[in-house]
Amino acid sequence: MMAITGYDEIIKQAAGAGADVIVVGAGLPLNLPELVGEDTLIAPIVSGARALKLLCRRWKTYNRLPDLVILEGAWAGGHLGFSDEDIKNYKEEKLIQETRDVRAFLDTLKEQKDIPLFLAGNAFDEHRIKKLLDAGADGFQFGTPFIATEECDVSDVFKKVILDAKKEDIVLIKSPVGMPARAIRTPFISTLRGEKQKIRDCRNCLRPCTPAATEFCISKVLIHAAKGNYEEGLFFAGDGVDKINKIRTVKEVLDEACLYILRAGSPGCGHGEGSL
Ligand SMILES: Cc1cc2nc3c(=O)[nH]c(=O)nc-3n(C[C@H](O)[C@H](O)[C@H](O)COP(=O)(O)O)c2cc1C
Repeated sequence: MMAITGYDEIIKQAAGAGADVIVVGAGLPLNLPELVGEDTLIAPIVSGARALKLLCRRWKTYNRLPDLVILEGAWAGGHLGFSDEDIKNYKEEKLIQETRDVRAFLDTLKEQKDIPLFLAGNAFDEHRIKKLLDAGADGFQFGTPFIATEECDVSDVFKKVILDAKKEDIVLIKSPVGMPARAIRTPFISTLRGEKQKIRDCRNCLRPCTPAATEFCISKVLIHAAKGNYEEGLFFAGDGVDKINKIRTVKEVLDEACLYILRAGSPGCGHGEGSL
């Protein structure tokens, strides 16, 4: 997340420690190329073609282009790079059109670089996967489906919140980052009144947060959720959370995704030998 305090230093340290790929969201990472060497692959998470074009114009001044691109629509979990209005009016056609537009732009760069495009945000759906592949996606990034897996290291309480969530439990809140965020209605959500308070024992985790006047400490409530404090936790989830109703293994989730991708007529999904 670009919003994180010490972002530049964290990226430099991650690259220096040997990270193969650095993926950055929650803001446009305009200076990312100056923080890493040429050997580190870099990828922005963008909300549409306009943001990507702007980013690529800047990255060209560093003589770099993205190594891969993640297009995250307004149905993702957690922080969203859209206005409240755009989120409320978001439709599948919009996601597909944005995919086409990003694909068309990436195709103009093809002579310089073949850049794969990954789609994120309630993409775990057979029909949607087919439409997105047809529109030019090369792959997918899933978030919420992996929370309800045996391997996921969040508390069982978080997993139960995911399993129990219905469409009407999905809410948008205003995060101290200054962006809207998608979460599940739990007791913490009903305490939100839009009133500011001074945060004690601030961890100074986010640059855009003002600890002297913010409604809550996001670091604290997200940790509560991960640790299983149902009353005080903030549980982020994507718009497709209501479709998840049992705990599976990561392999089962990936196998199902691969099946959808193969049925859509795509040659393969790279999910390793022995799957399916
Ligand atoms: C609990 C949760 C936490 C997330 N945290 C981050 C984050 O810290 N940074 C980020 O770039 N995206 C974050 N995301 C977004 C995911 O990486 C992913 O792109 C998105 O949720 C995909 O949509 P899906 O959950 O519908 O599959 C988060 C999503 C969830 C559900």
